[in-house]
Amino acid sequence: MKDLSFCRQQFPSLQRTGEDGKPLVFLDGPGGSQVPYPVINAISEYYRHHNANTHGHFITSRESDRIVDKARLDVKALLGASETSSVSFGQNMTTLNFMLSQALGSYFRSGDEIIVTDLDHDSNISPWLRLAERGIVVRHAPITDEATLDLDAFKKLLSKKTRLVAIGWASNAVGTVNPLATIREWTRQVGSLMLVDAVHWAPHGPIDVADLQPDFLLCSAYKFFGPHIGILYAAPSLLDKIPTLRVRPQLSTGPEKIETGTLNHAALAGVSAAINFIAALETDRHQTYTDQIHHAMAAVYSYEHHLAGLLYEGLLHMPHTTLYGPPVTQSQRTPTVSFTIDGAQSSHVAQELAKKGILVWDGDFYAMTLIDRLGIREQGGLVRLGLAPYTTTDEIYRTLDAIREVEVTLHG
Ligand SMILES: Cc1ncc(COP(=O)(O)O)c(C=O)c1O
Repeated sequence: MKDLSFCRQQFPSLQRTGEDGKPLVFLDGPGGSQVPYPVINAISEYYRHHNANTHGHFITSRESDRIVDKARLDVKALLGASETSSVSFGQNMTTLNFMLSQALGSYFRSGDEIIVTDLDHDSNISPWLRLAERGIVVRHAPITDEATLDLDAFKKLLSKKTRLVAIGWASNAVGTVNPLATIREWTRQVGSLMLVDAVHWAPHGPIDVADLQPDFLLCSAYKFFGPHIGILYAAPSLLDKIPTLRVRPQLSTGPEKIETGTLNHAALAGVSAAINFIAALETDRHQTYTDQIHHAMAAVYSYEHHLAGLLYEGLLHMPHTTLYGPPVTQSQRTPTVSFTIDGAQSSHVAQELAKKGILVWDGDFYAMTLIDRLGIREQGGLVRLGLAPYTTTDEIYRTLDAIREVEVTLHG
């Protein structure tokens, strides 16, 4: 990976300070990453020079067409897809998943079954629960005490009635990475579709749909340095078969079939720039754009994993702090480290860190079932520290010192 100073220089927000004049520490990434100059520039460039609706005969319209086409090509490379027709855009992941679930609801029959997991963000649960009103049965895969999927219990839920498994790639609350290859195998054995919520994984590691072969995969560009755009990958020609909500003039084939209304063209220019930014993090030149991006994301994974290890180790030694999720030493884990401090509301801890210029989230992060299952709802859920390629070792130590101070103030 390019050295850290290259990465940090690209983000204007990293130059700003808090009210006390000290640099801010951005550990809020799982709620949305910071945005580098090339993305900001691409968006403003669109409004300055190319702003128009698509499919016209005039220059700005043709340029807008090219921007949309390019965004599909870049996302195709990011995901390792074989066709741009597999790449649809929408307002955000949640909206796309609701659109898709409503369409699949008309495709499935009463008595068909869908499996969701207790580890997931609610954006990959509520859309499927809505289908119960059509007689579709939703089953819930439970988790273990370590906040990993209970695979034995999961396997028992699968049957010939299972039409869809809706599963996250990684938990946005505790960083668990699910064994997707195994689950893909199981879904094949019963003839079920597999939908993957890759929103939390996408900023932290490579995605290769050619290898995993999900039927659907969703992610969100604002988590990987881009603007607010939802992305849906659908296996080639799969969307063509599904009755999506659409207006009559809209194309009845993928990828447009699920894209209601006018897309956010400026943001799509930003999506391309974000993917380009990722590709540029890799120092060596690789043969294809997909390889370039995948190597860059593998390098991001190692860099973040190392820092997450330091953070995790430091927190482990704090006597009144409890960590959640699998240990960071595990090879497959996102650099999202969540904890509670005995006797403290998580919002209190987040406020104390905010006073020191350390930006972290607290709560359930919409992973509601997981928080209930961990028994920490009363405590206000978790405090979540999310690392990014722009996080530094100094920031990790500054954060650990700040958490230690909160602990000492509370417990002496
Ligand atoms: C794992 C996960 N899935 C889904 C979502 C929803 O994404 P969006 O905000 O694009 O709807 C989030 C957002 O935080 C998330 O972390």
